[in-house]
Amino acid sequence: MNPTNQTYFIIKGISDVPEFQAPIFILVLLMYLTTLGGNMTILVLVCLEPKLHSPMYFFLGNLSIMDMSSTTSSLNKVLISFVTGVNMVSFVGCLTQCYMFTSLAGGELLILTAMSYDRYVAICNPFHYQLVMNHRTCVLLTTSCWLWCFIEFIPHVVSLSDITCFQSREVNHFFCDIVALQKLACGDTFFLDTSLFCSSIFHATFTLFLTFIPYVFIISSILRINSGTGKRKAFYTCSSHLTVVILLYTSLILQYLIPSSEDSLETNKMFSLFNTAAVPMLNPLIYSLKKH
Ligand SMILES: *[C@@H]1O[C@H](CO)[C@@H](O)[C@H](O)[C@H]1NC(C)=O
Repeated sequence: MNPTNQTYFIIKGISDVPEFQAPIFILVLLMYLTTLGGNMTILVLVCLEPKLHSPMYFFLGNLSIMDMSSTTSSLNKVLISFVTGVNMVSFVGCLTQCYMFTSLAGGELLILTAMSYDRYVAICNPFHYQLVMNHRTCVLLTTSCWLWCFIEFIPHVVSLSDITCFQSREVNHFFCDIVALQKLACGDTFFLDTSLFCSSIFHATFTLFLTFIPYVFIISSILRINSGTGKRKAFYTCSSHLTVVILLYTSLILQYLIPSSEDSLETNKMFSLFNTAAVPMLNPLIYSLKKH
């Protein structure tokens, strides 16, 4: 019997300073409620409004579901523990949270990639748009995103669940973040560190390239349009997606490229809060600003 199955972890939270607890709670709660409200609105509109039954909104609906689930999976503990005062979580609970969040966050990047391809077809191949982005393609693309993200991180969670020795039980984060959790392991963690590092780099680089390559074609195609109004119109159709993608990748890169020394952990948490709570909150706002 594995003794670690019964162990508990302490989630350190966003800040240690007692005076900050209430303002942080209110801020996080507001961000969380805005995310839920905005994404629910998108979801209802996408389902009810026949005008929004296009591939772009099909993906956006799925992105909203992922956004809501990923913020719920990452923020539930910190919100509940503020109210109840209990900041302990079981090992299994911690692994579940880690798995759900990592998969859903990975899934968001995949859906954004699919949307990028959708924009590419819309701008570079407009006459065949209906044909290429038919219902079957959309279902196939989104289903693969969901399956892929949930399968991809199984090996990591399995290897995390194998850890039997911990230097400390205090997770210095506001949820069981995969990196924060892995830092607690003692002994030889070379294999775990390397496999996690390689697969996150792979996932991020892969989705980054697949997301931005269509934009090389999109931009060169927009530059070839002669009329100013045509240029602007084409740009409008992808500006909101591009904004979200740039925001998300910039903050992801900042979060993971800043070396994780002890004092940068606080900065790291702030970027992480931005990624987990602010970006999903901004998505609906950016999309609703878009002109159709
Ligand atoms: C999300 O994708 C699935 C297919 O994978 C589809 O059936 C569903 O309608 C989509 N959801 C929304 C809200 O667009």
